[in-house]
Amino acid sequence: AAASLPEKNYASITPPYAQLLEKLSIVRKILNNRPLTLAEKILYSHIHNPEQTLNGKLVRGESYLQLSPERVAMQDASAQMALLQFMSAGMDRCAVPASIHCDHLIQAIQGAEADLKSSLVTNQEVFDFLESAARKYGIEFWRPGSGIIHQIVLENYAAPGMLMLGTDSHTPNAGGLGMLAIGVGGADAVDALTGTPWELKAPQIVGVHLTGKLDGWATPKDLILHLAGKLTVRGGTGRILEYFGPGVFNQSCTGLATVANMGAEVGATTSTFPYTASMRSYLNATNRAPVARAADEAAAKGFLSADEGAEYDEVVEINLSELEPTINGPFTPDLATPLSKFASVIQEQGWKDELSAGLIGSCTNSSYQDMTAVADLAKQAQAAGLKAKVPFLCTPGSEQIRATMERDKVTDVLEDVGALVLANACGPCIGQWKRDDKKGEENAILTSFNRNFKSRNDGNAKTMNFLASPTLVTAMTFSGKLSFNPVTDSIPLPSGGSFKFKPPTGQDLPSEGFTPGRTIFYPTPTPEPQPETEVIIKKDSQRLELLEPFKSHFGPWNDRGLELPSLKVLMRVRGKCTTDHISAAGPWLKYKGHLTNISENLLITATNDEGGDVNVAFDHDHDANQSNTDTIPNVAKRFRDRKQPWALVVDDNYGEGSAREHAALQPRFYGCALIVARSFARIHETNLKKQGVLPLWFADKADYSRIGSGDIVETHGLADLLNGVPDASIYLVVKKPTGEEFKVQTKHTMSADQLKWLKAGSALNHISAQTKN
Ligand code: F3S
Repeated sequence: AAASLPEKNYASITPPYAQLLEKLSIVRKILNNRPLTLAEKILYSHIHNPEQTLNGKLVRGESYLQLSPERVAMQDASAQMALLQFMSAGMDRCAVPASIHCDHLIQAIQGAEADLKSSLVTNQEVFDFLESAARKYGIEFWRPGSGIIHQIVLENYAAPGMLMLGTDSHTPNAGGLGMLAIGVGGADAVDALTGTPWELKAPQIVGVHLTGKLDGWATPKDLILHLAGKLTVRGGTGRILEYFGPGVFNQSCTGLATVANMGAEVGATTSTFPYTASMRSYLNATNRAPVARAADEAAAKGFLSADEGAEYDEVVEINLSELEPTINGPFTPDLATPLSKFASVIQEQGWKDELSAGLIGSCTNSSYQDMTAVADLAKQAQAAGLKAKVPFLCTPGSEQIRATMERDKVTDVLEDVGALVLANACGPCIGQWKRDDKKGEENAILTSFNRNFKSRNDGNAKTMNFLASPTLVTAMTFSGKLSFNPVTDSIPLPSGGSFKFKPPTGQDLPSEGFTPGRTIFYPTPTPEPQPETEVIIKKDSQRLELLEPFKSHFGPWNDRGLELPSLKVLMRVRGKCTTDHISAAGPWLKYKGHLTNISENLLITATNDEGGDVNVAFDHDHDANQSNTDTIPNVAKRFRDRKQPWALVVDDNYGEGSAREHAALQPRFYGCALIVARSFARIHETNLKKQGVLPLWFADKADYSRIGSGDIVETHGLADLLNGVPDASIYLVVKKPTGEEFKVQTKHTMSADQLKWLKAGSALNHISAQTKN
């Protein structure tokens, strides 16, 4: 019998449709009532103060929108810095409902129970920190073992027409319920948590027109694998994928979520679908009938689908009836091969025709439909006397899915054929898979996950990781051959005969409803903040550290008034410098919540334009015991120890890549006050502003080479700008060690609000000062 669950707070999970429609009508006027796409409707109905912030103009791909998201979801790895930042804003509760999900830090070694236990020990201090912060600020805390962030969001929080931010790249999964869910860095999440409008360049909208119907072995996963092949990993950058047409309405809600999930693989901002009957059924099946009723009403008013005649920036046509199962990889999610051609690709490439493991589940593919379809195949194979030939691992997406699978004997069927059911967590999808038998060996695995970058699953760069539907993965584990095509091929039986699978059939939703499973995993909905709670950070912790507010550049310690203090140039960075160059990932991930420790990786893969070396900086003021060169973080530390504020000179598109806020926090932590670039990547530029670093652009890109390490740089004109002088511009006076002096003209993109952040030392200092007043 279903255990009783805490009563839902429907008000907190139902979008405020009346308010959204009202705002939309304001934006419609600004746009002269042109027809809108669904994605536009959702975005524009969440614009903060549209009359003021739009200035009467909104152009897709050009304008910047100030948005008010309704909800924030954070996973355990990225939540750490997000919460540390939120804490330094000095607020006593979040401005919008939020949830934390412990899923990335759980291992996949022996099976659910044992792995959960050992992960709790290894990560105890992180979980304690997250839980105590959640209690203090009234955030819903989903403890380790409760499930994967995106599955839980779909089951509990997602709703048609909603705008949500999540600190994970597969946040768009919630688009399966007809909303916009966008993956962001922690600093953006903090915008929403503090009620600061969140900025997004109005995305272009790609319309994906679906006709026909999926049939046989083709699944929603094959639709997105096929589309990834068409669009490539960059095809969705700065764009939203909006699906429309009859082929949307004959798919399950969870199937659409799989498609939305992997929009991240083509770089799309997010993906969405018009409201469908299967979304309504899913809301009802997951105990959200009031949300479904409100969505029905909003849909009747035309909110939850595109207007007749809405224009897309590009339209992609896909006939689902023609889709065949597809396998993508290895090493990149856009290398798509139709199943019927895969055997010949194996031959051409000279790959061993051997599968070494099959993995199903994850946030991408662990719906009831996926699991029952997989169980159907397992039953067929079992009846023929077959067992999985290679390790077969399954990660359920949530406790609800796990418990429902168990009740409906899906788990029994899978275990009977040899599957190992892992904890409800990311596990092998994020490299928590301990796999010793194939270390350093070339081998091929098939997963129903979403990413297949080198080394992602087992840390072995020689593991070729292919992506496929859960049903195809399952069928192939019974064959053990990479070239096996269940549509046409048979598996020889020990008895002498042969066995051929029938196309799998799954069940969209459980006929007996979902069972929640262990209720210990469920948080109280929208808990009241408990301000007396002490946020737990272990003394001497190497993984967590409270953030000290950054000191403002302006005050008695700066004799230049409202100009930046005199700055010394630390280095001139050459060429491509992504957020990965500025703050490397890999082994550094464990320090995400510890600014001092993670800052040891500052720019360690950046190239110094003076000399061309990687991770080498010059120290012109070194003392007798120090060398005149050292690693970049070490020289930055020397500057900080001398209380010498500093500047960086950087090349084109500085900070491209991710929204990782560490790339802005770290230089600021060591005393960087100014970065002058040939050009910036927009998200990183905004992150620098949030942390109180002034980003300036060379008016003449050639000036880049004129400034070098050890030069003194002084800003002029910043004081005017901070004093509100219209059109004030900033130039730099550069003083060379030789005594030579010259001026360099710059440009800036600082808005009035962003100037307030600079003045306060950071956006969070500014918010904190306002909170106190
Ligand atoms: Fe986790 Fe993999 Fe999804 S890391 S959130 S299961 S993409």
